[in-house]
Formats: sequence, C-alpha cells, structure tokens
Amino acid sequence: MILPTPVDLIRAAGRFTFTERTTVRADGDAAQVADLLRTLLGPATGLPLAPGTAGTVVLTLDPAARELGDEGYRLTVDPFQVSLHAARPAGLRHAVQTLRLLLPPEALSPRPVPGVVWSLPSVRITDRPRHPWRGFMVDTARHFQPVERLLATVDRIALHKLNVLHLHLTDDQGWRLPVDAYPRLTEIGSRRARSMVGHAGSTRYDDQPHQGTYTKAELRHLVAYAAERGVTVVPEIDMPGHTRAALAAYPHLGNHPERQLDVWTDWGVCETVLGVHEEVFAFCRAVLDETMELFPSRYVHLGGDECPTVEWENSPAARSRAAELGLAEPAHLRGWFLGRVGRHLLDAGRIPMCWAEADGSTLPVEFTVMPWRDAEHGREAARRGHQVVMAPHRSTYLDYPQSTSPDEPLGQAGYVVDLPGAHGHLAPTDHWDEAERARVLGSQAQLWTEFVTTGEHFDYLTYPRLCAIADHAWNPVSDYTRDFLPALAVHRPRLAALGVHHAERS
Ligand code: ACM
Repeated sequence: MILPTPVDLIRAAGRFTFTERTTVRADGDAAQVADLLRTLLGPATGLPLAPGTAGTVVLTLDPAARELGDEGYRLTVDPFQVSLHAARPAGLRHAVQTLRLLLPPEALSPRPVPGVVWSLPSVRITDRPRHPWRGFMVDTARHFQPVERLLATVDRIALHKLNVLHLHLTDDQGWRLPVDAYPRLTEIGSRRARSMVGHAGSTRYDDQPHQGTYTKAELRHLVAYAAERGVTVVPEIDMPGHTRAALAAYPHLGNHPERQLDVWTDWGVCETVLGVHEEVFAFCRAVLDETMELFPSRYVHLGGDECPTVEWENSPAARSRAAELGLAEPAHLRGWFLGRVGRHLLDAGRIPMCWAEADGSTLPVEFTVMPWRDAEHGREAARRGHQVVMAPHRSTYLDYPQSTSPDEPLGQAGYVVDLPGAHGHLAPTDHWDEAERARVLGSQAQLWTEFVTTGEHFDYLTYPRLCAIADHAWNPVSDYTRDFLPALAVHRPRLAALGVHHAERS
C-alpha cells in the first residue's frame, strides 16, 4: 500500500527481485529519470542498475499517451520485468517514487542496508494527480531553515508526489534572500536581537540573537536539486506588509523615512508597511529581478497578506497618492500596489501570486490567488476569474497543534489541525460548481515557523499530516478511513527509514 494512494492499482501473482545484474533500459529523456532511479535506490541497496539494451527495468516516454497527462504514469511489475511508462518526464519520476515505495521500507534508508531482498510485488498501476499544483510552503523567515533541511524536504515531498516547494523568504522577523543591489537586506535584515517567547502579544523574550541567510549558490543548488526530482521552488517575497526586516535595513522605503526600526522580535501582524513612493517600486523591481534570476519558476509569490493600512491612512504622501489614483480610500493602495508590482512579473513572462485577502476584488485577474483564511474566499476568487491554490488555514496550516493533548508542544493558537482535517482539506470545493472547480490549480500545506527551532520539531509538525494532505491532493477518491489510514500504517516504517521524526500519535 502506497501513499499517495494510486488511482488504480491491480495486484497480480509473483514478485520481481532486483539483483546486481539487473539492468535498466531508458532512451532519450527517460535516461535522466533512470539516473534519478539510480540516485534514489543506490544509497540503501548499492545496486548498480547499469544501463543495458536488454534491461529488465524499462523506462519509456511516450508523448502519445495523452490519457496520462503531464504527470500520470503506468507502472507494471511482473516476475520478469518492471515497466515505467509516461507521456512526460514528470510522470516517469512519479513512477520511480512509486517503485521505491513498493520495495521494502529499508530501500529509503540513506545508508547501506545489507541482507535485504530487494523485491516488489507484481502490480499494474495507472495513476495521475487530480491537480497540477501540490505544494508545501516553508517559512524560512520566522526561524531560518538551513539549506540541508530544505534539500531533505525536497526529497521527502517528492516521495509524496508533491511538486512545489514554496519558500517564504522574507518577513518582519528576517530577510533570508541575498540581493546584490540591496546588500543591507541580509547584512541588517537577516538578524534579530531576540525572539518573543509564547504567542503573539506575549511580553516575554529570549535573549538569543537569531540570524540566517542563504547564498545565491545554495539557492541555485536547491533549485537544480529540486528540478531533478520534479519539484519547482516558488519564491515568495512578501509585500507591502510583512516588510519590517527590509525597513530596518532601508528606512527610506517606509512611510517614516526618518525612523530607524529594528528587525521585529515579536510574533503577530506588524503595522509597519512599505511606502507607496516611486523608490519603493524601484526596490521591488530590483529585488524581483534578482529573484527571477535565481528561481526559474513560472510563478512568483508576492505575499500581499495581512497588510495593515494605518500607516497609509496617517501618511499625507500615501493619502494624496490614493487620491491621485482615484482610489476611494488608502486601504485600496494594497491592490494597486500588488497590481503594479505584478505587472512587472507579467512583463517578464511570470505569473504573480498572492494570498487572498478581503479586498481581493481589486486584484488584477492575472494573479493566481491562495485563499488562506476561509475556503470560500477561494470560490469568490475563482468567480472573479482567478486561478486558485487552496491553502485554508483550518486544514493546511501545520503550525497548529495536531491534537488537544496537554503534552502537545506550543503551536499556533486558535485551532487544531488533526489528521482527518488535513486529509479532507479540499472538501470545501466539492460543492463548488464546475466552472469554479476548474479554476482550482491545486492545494498546499504551510509550515509557519514561529515555534519551529529544530529539525525534529519541523518533522513532528509536518509528518504524517503532510502525508494526508499529499494523499487527498493527489487522489480525489481516497477515503480517510478505508484507504488512507491503512496505507499510513504501512508508510510509517518508511518515514522511520528516512529518519523522519514523525508524530506517532495522530
Ligand atoms: C498568512 O497566514 N498570513 C498567509
């Protein structure tokens, strides 16, 4: 039993066994995916899987297999042959992940495991995802996440057939992206003096400076590593709110150029936002140009969430800008701001994204929208013509505790996201009409990291809830009790073999 549960799986008699002599046949672009198979199976099994024209493992790309779509695949195993078949390399990569899951769990170990018979059951699987966007967002701003953790995350999400790693790279509490044109963003903006202890509004702080930034070389490596595994890294540069770290570095970009702010040491929503003068747009363009240079993804996320408008309301410059633009109130500057910056991305051939907020009606329709507050915001956005990636917080925010148990570690306040809730995260779209559902590009999980300071905690919050989200994001008919839970029971030893510190209870 594998996760995500395949759409169609038929078991047959017998098993195929890999040996030192097993060879792999793969022509054309399929050869890269055969390399991925070697890379993924090599560490645990030591199998050479040498290329050979008489291979008993055969990877085939057949562009005419339109019924499989961009990411579908067919995997056929009998005692004599393993055949992986897809229209596109993305589908073949998913077939490779399924093959790994059919082997004994030790196949996932990063170290050699001697004495295991590397065999898998005879099956015929035909599989394809319900949606093209299946993502996982990692917040690297609230607590810096070392690049090794991001690389491991790519490996783990690819195993679960997720295909987007959304990196939240900038926020009030830290700026992690190197920008040559604005070096103080990382020199100043990547370090805060201390961090709040407890929930937003707490009056307690630790006395630990916190800092971290990626190098451009690390990010390029991450992007290439992810691409080999079929994962696109989508960068997020949050604006016009969530920019306190940038404003600590460059006060002239704010509504009070004379004010020297610190990188924020609190949790919660900060009132400090970017100004709306021309220098700010030059800044945004320069930052985004370097961002696009590092991240080739079609989509670039502009944040746009939680933008308090009090600074604009109190700023004569922002008020007069709103009036000149004919906006009914300064609050509408958010939509105008995002539209203007989004145009820069569109002109560069990219698609702007942002989190859905209540004033979404002012967003240009070219934006792809992530409804996070309420699933119904997604429906409203779809009706206005936006593509939508569902991220409703009550079922996809993994920083919420996963149970009400008193020994649950400190998590985001307000809700519990349990395993059934995570699994059913797309259920609200079931009652949308067909045209609205057609605008759903996919869904994703989010890990905000106010309380995530270690790799163990990162894993504990992520697994197995991400397995549940991946299952429902892939297979629309997988039932939580009938399909997912039995598959998860078989999957847990695989998580253990990978070294994932998953939550045992949920
Ligand atoms: C968000 O949680 N502010 C997107």
